[in-house]
Amino acid sequence: MSWRVLVTGGAGFLGANLVERLLGQGHAVAVIDNYATGRRDALQSHARLTVAEGSVADAALVDRVTAELKPTHVVHGAAAYKDPDAWAEDVASNVLGTANVVKAAQRAGVQRFVYLQTALGYGPTKQVPIPADHPLRPTTSYAISKVGGERYVAMSGLPWLSLRLANVYGPRNYTGPMPAFYKRLKAGQKCTIVRTRRDFIEVEDFLRLMDKVLVPGAPTGPFNVASGKDCTILEVYEKIHAALGLSAGEPPAVNDPGADDLASLLLDPSLTMTAFDWRPTVPLDVGVKKLVAWFDAHGVGETFTHLRMPKG
Ligand SMILES: NC(=O)c1ccc[n+]([C@@H]2O[C@H](COP(=O)([O-])OP(=O)(O)OC[C@H]3O[C@@H](n4cnc5c(N)ncnc54)[C@H](O)[C@@H]3O)[C@@H](O)[C@H]2O)c1
Repeated sequence: MSWRVLVTGGAGFLGANLVERLLGQGHAVAVIDNYATGRRDALQSHARLTVAEGSVADAALVDRVTAELKPTHVVHGAAAYKDPDAWAEDVASNVLGTANVVKAAQRAGVQRFVYLQTALGYGPTKQVPIPADHPLRPTTSYAISKVGGERYVAMSGLPWLSLRLANVYGPRNYTGPMPAFYKRLKAGQKCTIVRTRRDFIEVEDFLRLMDKVLVPGAPTGPFNVASGKDCTILEVYEKIHAALGLSAGEPPAVNDPGADDLASLLLDPSLTMTAFDWRPTVPLDVGVKKLVAWFDAHGVGETFTHLRMPKG
């Protein structure tokens, strides 16, 4: 059966990979993206794809695209995060934008509403690993506004899911440590590592989960999307260094996390694994080699971070 899927943020990393997959599966897709961090060349034209440039904060635009597509599904991935001090932009995109998309989805009567959420919404926690029923105590503008958006999704009355994502990486990923390390190492520049731990899953594993969560009638609610095993950012650096085949050079500087960062963010994905019979399968070594090969072929360009630190 073919669906009509609205993918907001569809020119971004997760969005573009998902759009490509949905089109390959025979579905029709409409994208709304303002290219704040997404790329104009992320999506190739396709008979079953329409792309609208603009912000989800523009209710008229969201309503027009939704009225034209009549979506059966919404995947809401559009989100602002690139400037920790741009609170108004975060609120406009992540709270008002989400409210607009939820209202439009209600009118369309969608069968599934999937919200791509950040695990940063949990904030600093004492409980590790963090279960999906842990209270949300966000401490940054990005995380606060994303949790605000999630609250509207949760009271929508729609069959909704909030996928609380650990670090997803893979082709088209221009945010976070991996593209930043690749770019600096390629340019012969020294890297600065933050002394934090994170859980990384490869985009193919994320997409296999999306196949399952989009099926009408599948479980709903908040779910952690992670492998359940973390590593240090230094280990990630070393894997990228090795994948680039570089000889040992000057060691990177290792700094303590800033006030807006979390030292550890380890999620408990057991509920997700049981509910969707899903397990991440791509080992970090394999995924990093694939990513480096992809960057070698396509380049990196501008990179982004939600943190207050020197940008890659
Ligand atoms: N990749 C991850 O590891 C990760 C982790 C946690 C949460 N997420 C969430 O997943 C979603 C997608 O993230 P991503 O990693 O693909 O990042 P991304 O930056 O590549 O994608 C976000 C997309 O949203 C677009 N966008 C931003 N503001 C918009 C607006 N107001 N209107 C329309 N489009 C807008 C951007 O241009 C971009 O194309 C986000 O909601 C993010 O919070 C991702």
